[in-house]
Amino acid sequence: MPKPRPPMPVPFGWFVVSYSDELAVGQSRPVLYFGREMVLFRTESGRPVLLDAYCPHLGAHLGYGINESSGQGGRIEGESIVCPFHAWKFDAAGYCTDVPYAKNMPPKVVGKQCLESYPVVEDNQVIYAWYHPEGVAPMWDVESFEEANSADWAPLQRFEWTIKTACQEMAENGADSAHFRYVHQTATFPETELTYEQHYSLGVQKADMQTPRGMVKGSITSKNIGPGQGFTRFEGIASTFLMGNVTPIDDETVHVRFAFTQPLVDGEVKTGGVNAAIIRDICKQLDEDKPIWENKMFRPQPVLCDGDGPIARFRKWYGQFYAESFSNA
Ligand code: FES
Ligand SMILES: [Fe+2]
Repeated sequence: MPKPRPPMPVPFGWFVVSYSDELAVGQSRPVLYFGREMVLFRTESGRPVLLDAYCPHLGAHLGYGINESSGQGGRIEGESIVCPFHAWKFDAAGYCTDVPYAKNMPPKVVGKQCLESYPVVEDNQVIYAWYHPEGVAPMWDVESFEEANSADWAPLQRFEWTIKTACQEMAENGADSAHFRYVHQTATFPETELTYEQHYSLGVQKADMQTPRGMVKGSITSKNIGPGQGFTRFEGIASTFLMGNVTPIDDETVHVRFAFTQPLVDGEVKTGGVNAAIIRDICKQLDEDKPIWENKMFRPQPVLCDGDGPIARFRKWYGQFYAESFSNA
C-alpha cells in the first residue's frame, strides 16, 4: 500500500520565520514557508519585512543575488528592497517605488501592490509572520513572554528539525496521552488537563521525570496559541521555559524550532547537571516522535479506546485554523 500523504492544508496563524539575531539591518534572504517563495529583509530603520519573492518585472527572486553589503539577496535602501536583476525598488507594503532607468514608471505598477506583504511582528527574540491563504488579516495578537525578553533569563538555547509531516499531526501529540508511556518511556501516563478555548490550547500536566538523581515530581504548563506558537513552562527540577515553534514549509514538511531558556543564578547561566538534562530529554522526545510522524498515515476516523487522550476534541479545535474545507474528524 503506498503511503498516503497528509491530507491537511497549510493552517493559518502566526509562525516564526526567523530568530531576530539571524536578520541584521540591511540584510535580505530567501525564505520558503507556507509553500511560498518569499524574501525576508530588515530595513535601515530596523523593521523586518516579508514579501512574496518574485519580481513583477522579469521574475527574479528578490532573495537571491550577490550583494556586497549583506552577502546575499536584494540590497536594502532605506525602507525598501532593490531587485538584484534590474534594480526595481519595492517598499515594505510591496509597492514598486522606483524603476531607476525608466523615463516613465509602467502604469501597471504605479500605485498598486505588486508583491504580497505579510504582517510581521518581532517579539520573544523571533520574527513572526501571519499567514492566511486568502490574505485575511491577523485574527489574534502575538503575545509577549517575559522569559524570552528578560536579561534575568539565559540566552536561548536553540535546536531545530525539518520533519516530513503536517503541523496538525505534530500538535496531536499533546492530546495523545498514551504515546508518552510507549514512545517516550515515561514512568506513568501523564495526568494532563487540556482545555481548548478559542485559538488556545492550554495544558496542565503533572509528570514524573527521570533525572540523574532519580525520579522527580514535576509539572508542565503549556500554552499553544494557534498552530505555530507553543510556550511551555517546566517546573520541578530546573525551571525551564520552552518556545516550541512549528512553521509549515509546505503541506507535508514542517520546520520545528525549540528555544529554551532558564533563569540565571547569581547572574550566571547554569549549563550542567539537571539544567542540561531536562533540555536533552525534551529534545530526545522530539527525536523519538519524528520517525512515527514521518511514516504514519492520517486516520480521519481512528479507532480509539477509553485510555486515549482527547484526540477528537483536539481535532475539532485544530480544524478552526483551516481556510479550506478539510474533513478533520
Ligand atoms: S526582474 Fe526584478 S528588476 Fe527586473
Ligand atoms: Fe511525543
